[in-house]
Amino acid sequence: MINFYDPKTETRSFSTKDLGTPVSKSNVKISLEIDGVTIVVPEGTSVLRAAAICDINIPKLCASDNLAAFGSCRLCAVEIEGMRGMPASCTTPVRAGMKVTTQNDQLAKLRRNIMELYISDHPLDCLTCSANGDCELQDMAGAVGLRQVRYGFEGKNHLDGATDDSNPYFSFDDSKCISCSRCVRACEEVQGTFALTVSGRGFDSRISAGQQQSFIESDCVSCGACVQACPTATLTEKSIIDHGQPDHSIITTCAYCGVGCSFRADMQGDRVLRMVPDKNGQANQGHSCVKGRFAFGYATHKDRITSPMIRDNIEQDWREVSWEEALAFAAKRLNSIQEQHGRNSIGAITSSRCTNEETYLVQKLVRAVFQNNNVDTCARVCHSPTGYGLKATLNESAGTQTFESVMATDVVLIIGANPTDAHPVFGSLLKRRLRQGAKLIVVDPRTIDIIDSPHTKAQHHLKLRPGTNVALLNALAHVIVDEGLADNDFIKSRCDDASFQQWYLHIKDPRHAPENTSEITGVAAEELRAAARLFANAHNGAIYYGLGVTEHSQGSSSVMAIANLAMVTGNIGREGVGVNPLRGQNNVQGSCDMGSFPHEFPGYRHVSEDDTRQLFEQEWQVSLDNEPGLRIPNMFEAAIHGDFKGLYCQGEDIAQSDPNTQHVQKALSSMHCIIVQDIFLNETAKYAHVFLPGSSFMEKNGTFTNAERRISRVRKLMPPLAGKEDWQVTVALAKALGYEMDYQHPSEIMDEIARLTPSFHGVSYEKLEQLGSIQWPCNDQSPLGTPIMHTKDFVGQQGKFAITEYVATPERANKRFPLLLTTGRILSQYNVGAQTRRTENQVWHDQDVLEIHPNDAEDRGINEGDWVGIASRAGTTALRARISQRMQPGVVYTTFHHPLSGANVVTTDNSDWATNCPEYKVTAVQAVKVDQPSVWQAEYAQFSQRQQQYLTNKKSAKIAD
Ligand code: SF4
Ligand code: SF4
Ligand code: SF4
Ligand code: FES
Repeated sequence: MINFYDPKTETRSFSTKDLGTPVSKSNVKISLEIDGVTIVVPEGTSVLRAAAICDINIPKLCASDNLAAFGSCRLCAVEIEGMRGMPASCTTPVRAGMKVTTQNDQLAKLRRNIMELYISDHPLDCLTCSANGDCELQDMAGAVGLRQVRYGFEGKNHLDGATDDSNPYFSFDDSKCISCSRCVRACEEVQGTFALTVSGRGFDSRISAGQQQSFIESDCVSCGACVQACPTATLTEKSIIDHGQPDHSIITTCAYCGVGCSFRADMQGDRVLRMVPDKNGQANQGHSCVKGRFAFGYATHKDRITSPMIRDNIEQDWREVSWEEALAFAAKRLNSIQEQHGRNSIGAITSSRCTNEETYLVQKLVRAVFQNNNVDTCARVCHSPTGYGLKATLNESAGTQTFESVMATDVVLIIGANPTDAHPVFGSLLKRRLRQGAKLIVVDPRTIDIIDSPHTKAQHHLKLRPGTNVALLNALAHVIVDEGLADNDFIKSRCDDASFQQWYLHIKDPRHAPENTSEITGVAAEELRAAARLFANAHNGAIYYGLGVTEHSQGSSSVMAIANLAMVTGNIGREGVGVNPLRGQNNVQGSCDMGSFPHEFPGYRHVSEDDTRQLFEQEWQVSLDNEPGLRIPNMFEAAIHGDFKGLYCQGEDIAQSDPNTQHVQKALSSMHCIIVQDIFLNETAKYAHVFLPGSSFMEKNGTFTNAERRISRVRKLMPPLAGKEDWQVTVALAKALGYEMDYQHPSEIMDEIARLTPSFHGVSYEKLEQLGSIQWPCNDQSPLGTPIMHTKDFVGQQGKFAITEYVATPERANKRFPLLLTTGRILSQYNVGAQTRRTENQVWHDQDVLEIHPNDAEDRGINEGDWVGIASRAGTTALRARISQRMQPGVVYTTFHHPLSGANVVTTDNSDWATNCPEYKVTAVQAVKVDQPSVWQAEYAQFSQRQQQYLTNKKSAKIAD
């Protein structure tokens, strides 16, 4: 029998079997015989894997198919005709004509002897062990037929090994360790952190975190890769120790960042026991970060609100009511506002945390039922310039690649993104590629981890001043054009000549030369030239960017400058290249795709396009407004002026996440009906009149679309705690307003999206089940989706170069505000922190701090841990100081994960010229040593406490009933 084995098919297969060693990507095929079965596999495949493919399961312990073969346990020994001894099958590659025997008496004896030695140094507590039933050591003892251990336990052993419980999520029990090193290799090869070592030699060799530290003290970032790799109960999730083994599993998608990792939720009834990264996950390929892997406890946190609530005004106790009463109250208020203040006086905000289907329904509600286009999204405040900038140049508002594509990249340019903190699983993949030899250029005002991490170093760190991205990107392009490094063939064949000629004249001008821009950017001309040459000369150059690009007054210009750079170097349309926006939240791409912006229907079609409008009018059976509606900042302005009175806010916390908090608070306080749909009483809900309890991603069906345009299924793990999935709540609100939306399941919503949106025409839940996930466009032209965009043309067009003149932000440091504040994220927390603050992740980051350069700190008499008052023209807050060499003098940095930090009290109303994306990344501030929090913080703490009391009162009233 010949088994022809195609590695490409295999990476897409849905088997969870561990084939022992990694797949070989070779196209050369080798034929061999294993136990009389002929098999054809790619060259470079191990004998162990070749056997496993045809279901000949050779015992193994130290091997796993996501780790390079190590060959330490010897359990996988085989006999090979013509070879001496019994070689380890995991470290032996196949050869043509090889004849392998995997079972005979000698092999069986050898394997039993090996297992006997392992077991003689292992606590015999299988029945009470947390891994009982899920332990490879136990399985292998059974597989080799071990029935007795001849050696006593009196001799030297490791049975008194200590347990390290310092990590909040997993435990390390040294007494059960078999020194297979899978954990060490997982930390190195999969995660790229190198936090674990083997200390000591021979019998004394033990696994150690860091320099004989506990896990929590070490460099461990709690990704869980070692826990997954461990074949014994040595490294085990505490939830498994506490509750036992799962009884069933469901595949779903992480609800945190834009990587969109696929997880296997291991369940015990309705309880999620653990989340294990899915090895078939096409975005994460079996890897995870601490958030998706462990920080899911928020979903069942005691703070969850599970009953609808209403109140007349925001200084009243909440009243718990039925769904019917809450929805009727909301509908009555919205109707009466529109009667009194006109059609445009209400609107809605969709969330990039919600599913595509939910987001689609909210914008449908606004357009079809509110009868205006006042819908906007939190993606406005992060990636709206990506949509605008990429559409204007590449003719599609999305990134061009798969994450996996980075494995074919030779030079990676990262600008304004911090992948190891904000997109950790992609960060690990990137580090793997860098360890293989790819070169790295980082453009960032701060020294982020990837610049200098174990076994990876950036060739160039262009440590620019905040707000000068466009000047720097133009300078890179200038060098490429000036030094004749442009890819003229690509430009000629793929790009619009008129726009190129115009751009060429613009960029060639000496004002863009690095020698002339270094004053602006702070980056030395020679270093910039060297970086430009490195990128332009790469066979494959890829650009990855994040909010450090978009959240600027010139965010859209920067995105266009990035697209220009990719086109001028011919780095578009194949594996290993491209323009890759790293999206912050899980469904930023999806919320934009689904028509969350006030001027666009799903699929980025303008509301003024008659044909498109008619299509939706026909489907929805209503007439639609052809004028764009209000963006979030316009809603706030109108609210303060008294023209905008009602807001439906689903899954988004504008009171914490939008800039200039005091302005936002004023706007929210001016409205008459704020409906918040969320799982917690978030900061926005403290200004609300109606609270509709939301469902976490574990309680609903739907889809998310990640940064690669990959649509993945979110599957319901448990019934919604409040009785309704979020999409059902929007349907019920529409009904209360007199409009029927008739869906029985989110798949029907997706069917409607597919009917109305050309790039989604081929998407359905059925196809998602078959393929695992789909990267749009998915339609008749690309029925299986589109992993790499723009391979032949730019969606029917030629690429357009855009003029990107650098215009300095009005937000400049001056005598009064001499420092520039920039903001970002940290690995353990997520966005406004509403979820991660309600998990054990708090141990890593329980407050936001101000990072400040030693010189700036010294000038101000600030010491580590001091309270520092930070004042801008928008407001004042105070944070504890962290003195940090990561910063450059004149620049300070903080995160925004805790509401009382008030990072956004300081940020201003400045925004991107094209999209109004706020300029979070540049705020001129002064920092001074203070001895207490700011006035705003004190007042907000009081307000917050009061609101909490209104919630508590509701609860006691309920009990009194
Ligand atoms: S959890 Fe991740 S980072 Fe920590 S030791 Fe294990 S593999 Fe390394
Ligand atoms: S902790 Fe687990 S994976 Fe690591 S060496 Fe010990 S048994 Fe192997
Ligand atoms: S990388 Fe992002 S999607 Fe993946 S587990 Fe972490 S937070 Fe979730
Ligand atoms: S599995 Fe091959 S030596 Fe351990």
